[in-house]
Amino acid sequence: MQKSNHIYPIFDKMLSRDDKEDLLHQKGVMIWFTGLSGSGKSTIAIALERELHKRGLLCRILDGDNIRSGINNNLGFSEQDRIENIRRIAEVGKLFVDTGIITLAAFISPNNELREMAASIIGKKDFLEIYVSTPIEECERRDVKGLYAKARKGEIKDFTGVSAPFEAPKHPALSLDTSILTLEESVNKLLEIIIPKIRK
Ligand code: ADX
Repeated sequence: MQKSNHIYPIFDKMLSRDDKEDLLHQKGVMIWFTGLSGSGKSTIAIALERELHKRGLLCRILDGDNIRSGINNNLGFSEQDRIENIRRIAEVGKLFVDTGIITLAAFISPNNELREMAASIIGKKDFLEIYVSTPIEECERRDVKGLYAKARKGEIKDFTGVSAPFEAPKHPALSLDTSILTLEESVNKLLEIIIPKIRK
């Protein structure tokens, strides 16, 4: 596909992020959950969204399975496709954050390079990395989608944690091990760090 050179962004004519944040009485931020499949990323994001919503705060969840059945339905799990998956998600996420929305992204995003790419697209000051550090033994014991069993049998290739690598984040804003913490405890820990960041 050939890139066009005739692109003239008109961002300066549009209302600003500040205008949107004033309207919403909140600041936009990206809460980026990383962790193995079945670690609890989406469950925590869903519970967190409900708590923030109750407090009158506008959120948007971006989640692996949903995004991969829509905008990213042409991507698989090769290294290249995972990069493109996260790049598009970060670009879409940035649109939400720039609209003043508290954006919750739940993707395996299995290495530091991918997460750094996402942070640099979105902007480091708007990016909070949350590591859902549930051990693989527990994710595999739960095997909610039956994917670990299939991966062990070789029916799914490049499966994160089994036949593809997962690199833990170096300095996450928070680590949540759902084999130790209740859902409520995880959400409370998140609220503690998020609420001060989003007050307008
Ligand atoms: S990522 O690595 O590119 O960030 P993403 O979060 O979008 O992954 O998608 C992960 C979800 O896709 C998993 O929760 C699982 O349901 C499904 N999946 C299917 N095949 C794989 C695979 N080979 N590795 C990891 N997850 C897979």
